[in-house]
Amino acid sequence: MGQVTWWRGGIIYQVYPRSLMDSNDDGVGDLQGIIAKLDYISSLNVDAIWISPFFKSPMKDFGYDISDYRDIDPMFGTMADFDELITKAHSLNIKIIIDQVLSHTSDQHAWFQESRQNRTNSKADWYVWADPKDDGSAPNNWLAIFGGCAWEWEPRRQQYYLHNFLKSQPDLNFHCDDLRQAVLDNVEFWLKKGVDGFRLDAITFCYHDELLRDNPAKPKGQRQGRGFSEDNPYAYQYHYYNNTRPQTVGFIEELRALINRYPGAVTLGEVSSEDSLATMAEYTQGDDRLHMAYSFELLTDDFSAAYIRQTVEELEASIGNGWPCWAIGNHDVQRVVTRWGKGESNPDLVKMLNGMLFSLRGSVCSYQGEELGLTEAPIEFEQLQDPFGIAFWPMFKGRDGCRTPMPWSKDAIQAGFSNVAPWLPIPSAHAENAVDAQEHNAQSTLNSYRRFLAWRKQQPVLVSGDIRFVEANVSILAFERELAGNKMLVLFNLSEQSTSFDFDGYQLNAELNEHGLLAGKLVGNTIELPPFASYFANIK
Ligand code: GLC
Repeated sequence: MGQVTWWRGGIIYQVYPRSLMDSNDDGVGDLQGIIAKLDYISSLNVDAIWISPFFKSPMKDFGYDISDYRDIDPMFGTMADFDELITKAHSLNIKIIIDQVLSHTSDQHAWFQESRQNRTNSKADWYVWADPKDDGSAPNNWLAIFGGCAWEWEPRRQQYYLHNFLKSQPDLNFHCDDLRQAVLDNVEFWLKKGVDGFRLDAITFCYHDELLRDNPAKPKGQRQGRGFSEDNPYAYQYHYYNNTRPQTVGFIEELRALINRYPGAVTLGEVSSEDSLATMAEYTQGDDRLHMAYSFELLTDDFSAAYIRQTVEELEASIGNGWPCWAIGNHDVQRVVTRWGKGESNPDLVKMLNGMLFSLRGSVCSYQGEELGLTEAPIEFEQLQDPFGIAFWPMFKGRDGCRTPMPWSKDAIQAGFSNVAPWLPIPSAHAENAVDAQEHNAQSTLNSYRRFLAWRKQQPVLVSGDIRFVEANVSILAFERELAGNKMLVLFNLSEQSTSFDFDGYQLNAELNEHGLLAGKLVGNTIELPPFASYFANIK
C-alpha cells in the first residue's frame, strides 16, 4: 500500500494562510508566502499541510464563506500561484490538503444570489428555505453558533433561510440531488488539480431535519461544546435536528466514491456533534466513508491525564477500523499553551504537549506556531476581526488571539511577516520566540519538534501501533503502544511537579530518550519524571 496510506499516523501541519507569510506587503499572508516557507515546513518533518480556505470570499468569516469554489481570492494570489505551490510541495514530498466548506456558502455566491430571487428559479431549493410561522416568527427554535436566531428573512421569497453560522453563510440544502452533484463537481475540480486531500469543514452541518422540528433544551451543567459555554445560547440546545442528521452518512459515501477515483486522495472531517467521538467513529467506519475525522474533544479547556485518557479510550472503544486525527490547537480555539498551561510558554511544557500529541494513536493536525510555543495573543476590542468575538465580547473574545501572524525574525519589522502593519498585531512575546531566535538553539521548542518527528519516523509503533492506557499517578499520562509484537511504554508528566512511575512489572528492552523532549530517568525500579518530562522505552 505504501504511499496510499501515508495519512495513517501522518502529521498534518495546519497553515492559516492569512497569517503564515505576507509576500506582497498588504498585511495579509498569501500563497506566495506559503511557497516561500515550504522549505521551513519541510524542515519540520511533517507529512502534509492543510491550508485553511484561500478561495474567493467576501471574508466575513475569513474565507469560511466562499463565493466561488473554483477560484483563488485575489488577496491570496492566483491559480498559477496555487499550481506552483502544489508542484513545489510535491517536490519536497509534502502533501497538500485543502479546506472544503461544503455545508454553506457565502451569501455572495452566485447560487444564493439566484436562489433568493423567487421560489421558482433553478436554484430555488439549493438552500434551506422555510415559511414563517403564523405569527411571522422564524420556522423553529434553531440557533446560530455565531449568535442569535439561525433564520434570516428574505423579502423577495417571503421566506426565511437557514444559517448555522453567520447570516452571510446561508446553509446549503443537501436533501436536493442537483445541489449535491454541484458540490461534488466542485470537489472534483480540485482533485483534477492534483490535491492530496480535503479537510471537510463543518461536515456534521450538511443536513437539516426536513420536518424542521424544534431542538430540545439542554439542562444547565451540560451546556458545553466546541469552545463555548453557557455564555452562548447555542449551548442551551441539543442540536439533534440541525446537526449530524442520519443522511450525512449517505453523502459521505457519495463523496468517498468520487475520491476513490483519484487514488491517494484523502478526507479529514471536522466533527462537531452532540457525541463527537461516536460521530468520528461512525463517519470513518469501513472503506467507503471518510478516511479520518477530528473533533473538538482535545480543543477544550480540560487538561488532565484522566480527561485525555478517558477521551482516547472512549474513542478507541468504538472506532473499530475507523481512524482518528487529534488536534490540541487550531484556528478556532485559544492557543494550547495558554489554554492548558496557564498562559506561560514554558519550553518544557510546549515540548511535552507536542510530543504527547505526536504519540497518540491516530493522525495529527498541528497548528502553525505550535512548534514555537506561541501563546494566545492579547487582542483589544478595537482590534477584533472575528465576528464571533465581536458578538460575544467580553465573555468570549473570539478566535483572533490564535490567528495572529507567524513571527519569523526576532528583530525584523513585523517579526519578518510583512513590511506593513498586519491584519492582526504580533505580540512582542511572539517576536521573542521567532523562528530565527530558535533556529540555532538545539534546546528550543522548534528544534525539539523537528527532532521528535524525525525520531518518530523511525518508530513504526508510534505511527500505527495500538494504544492501551496504564495506571499511573494522577499527573502522568501513561500508555503502551504495540505493533507486531513490539511494545513501547510512553509516559508524560503533565504537571509542574516532579512525579514518578513504578516500573515494576516491566522488562526493559531499551530506553528511547533521544527524542528532543525533557526525559525522565530510570532509577532502580522507578522512573523519575521532572515537571513536564516524558519517558519512552521498548519493553518486553
Ligand atoms: C469551522 C471552521 C471555522 C468556521 C466554521 C464555519 O468550524 O473551522 O473557522 O468559522 O466552520 O465555516
